[in-house]
Amino acid sequence: MAIRKILTDKDEALHKVCRPVEKFDERLWQLLDDMADTLQKADGVGLAAPQIGVLRRLFIMDVGDGLKECINPKILETKGTQECVEGCLSSPGEYGLIHRPEIVKLQAQNRDGKFFIVTLEGLAAECAEHECDHLDGIVFKDKVERMLAPDELK
Ligand code: NI
Repeated sequence: MAIRKILTDKDEALHKVCRPVEKFDERLWQLLDDMADTLQKADGVGLAAPQIGVLRRLFIMDVGDGLKECINPKILETKGTQECVEGCLSSPGEYGLIHRPEIVKLQAQNRDGKFFIVTLEGLAAECAEHECDHLDGIVFKDKVERMLAPDELK
């Protein structure tokens, strides 16, 4: 249990393509536990490993229905679009307008390496695509239609 430092999007770790997770061992579990603590402390909905400087393909998310751990995630299918006001723990205080899929079918592995598939909608779909982007070195500002001024956020 440890809080890790969340890097900002000025850090080069946020702009690198991450490598797959190969070992589902205690070191990975420690990392996942630390990420959960870090996400909770930061009061966020999603956190990808490169945001704490670990260039491996995994993220966690919790949009209010419990913590999901997604290792080596892959988006299999998307449907629809939604307009999102989006931010990122690596870009504190900054928000932008972005279109994301309304529905995302995601395949990933759990902490034991077991494959699963989930269908996510709304905020969960937005979050999953945002976090998958992080694993390819893409931040939301790379995709945003426009950033919002502080007085637009009310
Ligand atoms: Ni982010």
